[in-house]
Amino acid sequence: MNTSEMIRSEMTPVISAGWQGDALLPVYKQPSTVIVGGEGSYLVSAEGKRYLDFTAGIAVNALGYGDPDLAGAIRAALDTGLIHTSNLYRTLPVAELASWLVAHSFADRVFFCNSGAEANEGAFKFARRWARENGGADKYEIVAFRHSFHGRTFGALAATDRPGYQEPFRPLMPGVHFVEPGDVEGFDAVVSAERTAAVIIEPIQAEGGVVPVPPEFLAHIREVCDRNGVLLIFDEVQVGLGRTGNLWGHEATGVTPDLMTLAKPIAGGLPMGAVLLTERVAAAIRPGDHATTFGGGPLVASAALAVCRKIGSPDFLADIRRKGDLIADVLGALALQRDEIVSVRGSGLIWGIETSTDAAPAIAAAFEAGLLLVGAGPRVIRLLPPLNISDEDLRAGLTTIAEVL
Ligand SMILES: Cc1ncc(COP(=O)(O)O)c(C=O)c1O
Repeated sequence: MNTSEMIRSEMTPVISAGWQGDALLPVYKQPSTVIVGGEGSYLVSAEGKRYLDFTAGIAVNALGYGDPDLAGAIRAALDTGLIHTSNLYRTLPVAELASWLVAHSFADRVFFCNSGAEANEGAFKFARRWARENGGADKYEIVAFRHSFHGRTFGALAATDRPGYQEPFRPLMPGVHFVEPGDVEGFDAVVSAERTAAVIIEPIQAEGGVVPVPPEFLAHIREVCDRNGVLLIFDEVQVGLGRTGNLWGHEATGVTPDLMTLAKPIAGGLPMGAVLLTERVAAAIRPGDHATTFGGGPLVASAALAVCRKIGSPDFLADIRRKGDLIADVLGALALQRDEIVSVRGSGLIWGIETSTDAAPAIAAAFEAGLLLVGAGPRVIRLLPPLNISDEDLRAGLTTIAEVL
């Protein structure tokens, strides 16, 4: 019996005795299927059905399920006896992880936290702290973009262009302005040297439909930020760490931010977020300005080091780009055959298939056929397979997509 068969045999009586899932707050739409194990790029249900996972825990499980290097790093970390120490004390894995991120990015400093929303909250606080020191108390506004997604906490939600998510919870963090990506005049009109602390943008708008922001527009944002003493934050929570085939999503654009937020894949499924900053911004931050109890613990940092080292190797990244080319060929050909496909776009292992009608029935049909997909807005099917998916599994998933569309 392998591990997932063992778990399944233990779970089956529990499930047949009456599943207790009703005690969960019903904020998520979930199928009744219960997941009891994972192997490679597959999730396994209590009934023993295998689902090829093109969601990877919404871009989190970059190394799929049961990766031996990740599991080994977690086991070795547990052997030290340290799961958590609090940020009252230093630990080696956390220091090493910060050094790795600094050595592999534009940044000079790193702040660790626990999620994407928390990373963006931290970035807003660091930007406001910097702006107060470099402009005064009125310099606190944030410029964000239409179709953006930055998280569900009050600050991150204020910068998230989803009126339906915002309305029930107003008032949110004040001082956020939205601009359509690509709208140069609109952007120039809203940025103010006296009032704007920071601009936040995803180099590829992932939840917004897997839409890359044109590099020329990012370059314009960079130039306007520099001219007005405004900080530029890239939210790479979803596209950072290899997803696009480059280590960072912004690499292909040639534009560098002042701060970058990361989360989803960084610790291979354990919760971790990070804010990467240049020294210019970090110089404004004082002890006590910001903190978190759990952020950057030794266990998650050990897992993250294993993930970062594996994904950051040039061969691993080249292989993601190669798989991206394979997807581009298959989906490009499919789009020519099917009228219901409006466009396909993406790079590496993040792709969006825009459909002319609601994407939900195709996603539901794929689920029945054993393929997990997630939407990005009502008419986009998003593909986010594990970054180490085999060509065989990748092709199998693409074949199922062709069948259900
Ligand atoms: C670009 C981006 N930023 C922030 C978040 C929020 O991350 P979390 O759910 O970890 O708070 C997400 C989540 O989907 C995201 O895609």
